[in-house]
Amino acid sequence: MKVLVINGSPKGEKSITFQTCRYIYRKFPETDMHVIHVLKYSDGTEDMESAVEAVKAADLVIFSYPVYVGMAPAQLVRFIELFKGTGERFEDKYVTQITTSVHLFDITAHRYLEDNLYDMGFRVIRGLSLSTGDLLKNKGQLDVVRYWNYVVHCVNEGIYNRSFSGRENKDIPFGISVKHNDSVLSEKDPMYRILVITDCAKNDEYLRSSIVAFRHSVKYTTTVLNLHELNMESGCTGCYRCIVQGKCHIHDSVDHTLEKQLKTADAILYAFRIKDHFGGYRIKILMDRSFCSGKYDHFGKKPSGFLLLGGLTGEDNLRLFAESKMQEGKSFVTGYATGESGDMASEIDMLASNMSYALYHRLSMTPDFYGISSEKLRRDMLIYVQTTMLYHPVTTVTGMKKAQEELLSPYEKLLKERNIEEEMEFPDISIPDISMPDINLNDLSIPEIHIPEIDINKIRSAVNRMNPLSGKKN
Ligand SMILES: Cc1cc2nc3c(=O)[nH]c(=O)nc-3n(C[C@H](O)[C@H](O)[C@H](O)COP(=O)(O)O)c2cc1C
Repeated sequence: MKVLVINGSPKGEKSITFQTCRYIYRKFPETDMHVIHVLKYSDGTEDMESAVEAVKAADLVIFSYPVYVGMAPAQLVRFIELFKGTGERFEDKYVTQITTSVHLFDITAHRYLEDNLYDMGFRVIRGLSLSTGDLLKNKGQLDVVRYWNYVVHCVNEGIYNRSFSGRENKDIPFGISVKHNDSVLSEKDPMYRILVITDCAKNDEYLRSSIVAFRHSVKYTTTVLNLHELNMESGCTGCYRCIVQGKCHIHDSVDHTLEKQLKTADAILYAFRIKDHFGGYRIKILMDRSFCSGKYDHFGKKPSGFLLLGGLTGEDNLRLFAESKMQEGKSFVTGYATGESGDMASEIDMLASNMSYALYHRLSMTPDFYGISSEKLRRDMLIYVQTTMLYHPVTTVTGMKKAQEELLSPYEKLLKERNIEEEMEFPDISIPDISMPDINLNDLSIPEIHIPEIDINKIRSAVNRMNPLSGKKN
């Protein structure tokens, strides 16, 4: 069987997720496996046509990627946009996905990709969501083997899933103009500032005038951050350097914007045209780049509303994503304006009125299942990152490369095992990066381990920045 792996990790071949594909390749030598890396397509190095040809030549496609902020990484989101943009259909192609994560909203990531694959006609086979490190354990290896046998069975027997999501409505016009009231923007109440985050294109009069209508309708001052105009070099590279240094190694305007515009805002309006079941890759860059540096918290604890064009009905996963992220950040959801009632102006007025009320009364979200489970899984993520940083303190580019190599070394060892083609008798390989003993989460002091050339205070403050429980008493 001809298999194409589309590797969506910003770490390319150094991706931990990608090691699972390599494992399948070693374990099932009859598999004819080829690989393409989305980085080369999302940055424009490779022509999209070659990706289309590669998919056409395969019987089965595997999307392999890490979960970033409950979704695919921004680079893969961009790849999907460009890939769908070719207009090609893949009715006879089977497709599946493999991810690694701490399972913090892996479901929304899987469904985002599936919804897009259904749009292109793919025959979707259920994917595999592994925890980081699973592949190094007997149980994880067994899961991979069983999963792969199931995938092969599906392809051989012609079995695939059916979509239960609505189809994307791309017919929402750009030219509509929404009327606004005659309030004066400069006279709005300065007690609070609402940040409108959008990626409104120049020709999108409908979105632009909807934002203007909201700004006139709401009681407080507003500022607009148009991601189209923001200097963003690239998505998160997954290096974790920002955890120690508190800032990203990419020199563009993202860090500054997160600090100066987002942190100081009292509320947020997300104003987007729904694109490929999401809001476009630019907002994903902003989210990914804030996640590990601690700046992700700047999105939280702020009443938030959504102005979304493109038909939210049928976009179950996008709604789940939005609600769960709000729960994660304990932000009160002030509502959605989508124009689907046929009266966008009234929807916007209601959204604005709710936002004004929530701000004035300082409403916040009482955590439900999503909020509480997010908090616990983010804590898991913290442990993973904390231990990774203890063993691989990344403060320089060389250090970053070395850390990635060290993280991969147990996988290399596994993939070199001579008995890989034999039955399931693999020794568990202990890996330092996720088996940190006895961490007391209430007391985040770092165990006494001698690590040369690192500033332990930097790590400690980074850990505190990442820690959703910091500041709380037990
Ligand atoms: C920017 C960023 C965002 C992340 N977001 C999530 C998340 O939302 N949920 C989760 O479970 N893990 C999250 N993780 C953890 C990664 O999924 C995990 O480290 C993964 O194993 C990395 O895989 P890779 O080596 O294949 O790139 C995130 C990591 C990074 C760097």
